[in-house]
Amino acid sequence: MREKPTAGRAANAVGATTPNGGAGSTPGGAGGPAVRTEGLWKIYPQEPRPVEAVRGVDLEVAAGEFVAMAGPSGSGKTTVLNLLGGLTRPSKGKVWIGGREISELPDRELAKVRLSRIGFVFQSYNLLPVLTAAENAEFTMLLQGVPARERRERVRRLFAEVGLEGLENRMPPKLSGGQQQRVAVARAVLAEPALVLADEPTANLDSSTAEALLDVMEKLNREKGTTFVFSTHDPRVMERAGRLIRLVDGRVEE
Ligand SMILES: Nc1ncnc2c1ncn2[C@@H]1O[C@H](COP(=O)(O)OP(=O)(O)OP(=O)(O)O)[C@@H](O)[C@H]1O
Ligand SMILES: [Mg+2]
Repeated sequence: MREKPTAGRAANAVGATTPNGGAGSTPGGAGGPAVRTEGLWKIYPQEPRPVEAVRGVDLEVAAGEFVAMAGPSGSGKTTVLNLLGGLTRPSKGKVWIGGREISELPDRELAKVRLSRIGFVFQSYNLLPVLTAAENAEFTMLLQGVPARERRERVRRLFAEVGLEGLENRMPPKLSGGQQQRVAVARAVLAEPALVLADEPTANLDSSTAEALLDVMEKLNREKGTTFVFSTHDPRVMERAGRLIRLVDGRVEE
């Protein structure tokens, strides 16, 4: 996140949601898409001239889709994900999460939408450095009121699945990039939000670890109907995506 965060970020930064988050049903709107945009622009004020990072993006992702967003560095992938998740406000255009238009919501309302529906995996992980790996992974469930024993059990199972066993008590600064990334993914998905937005979730992982992580995400997608939107440079992710959205210079290339 290079932009100044809006209010409520402490909560949304960990990708919180309500228990069972409505996954499997459409978040917030009967039968509609999980997320949709119309004429979306993001212009960053910048010297000597403003940066047009996103230039008129129209997207629709149905509930239960597993979508990858690819494009060269600087094409706007992170910016689009931040707009989809209500972490950044559009300069122009609209975003719907479920049936709800979020671009004009007051900060507090927006924070609630993020908290109840969306799991974020940030390109830079954004783990809390003063909490252990397991505590980071548990954090969203803690906000949801999942009992401690259940939280620990879910963390234990997922850590085993993605090769983090034995690292439960390690602090993030003492984990490798790839390990931090897996903790960040765990934090986002353990809470079972209806929509997961993941910014290059496999970027620092070797093949077998990346595959294991994709297995976990696919399983959630299949079993809980969780909608996934990833940005990626990774052919392994593109291959396994149900659909590929190509972004070039802030626009969707059909
Ligand atoms: N906060 C900001 N202020 C000014 N310009 C920004 C800001 N954030 C991003 N940009 C610019 O917007 C454009 C899109 O950036 P973005 O991070 O969305 O690209 P990306 O596709 O995610 O790239 P990468 O693959 O390298 O992660 C780039 O030109 C970038 O320099
Ligand atoms: Mg990026």
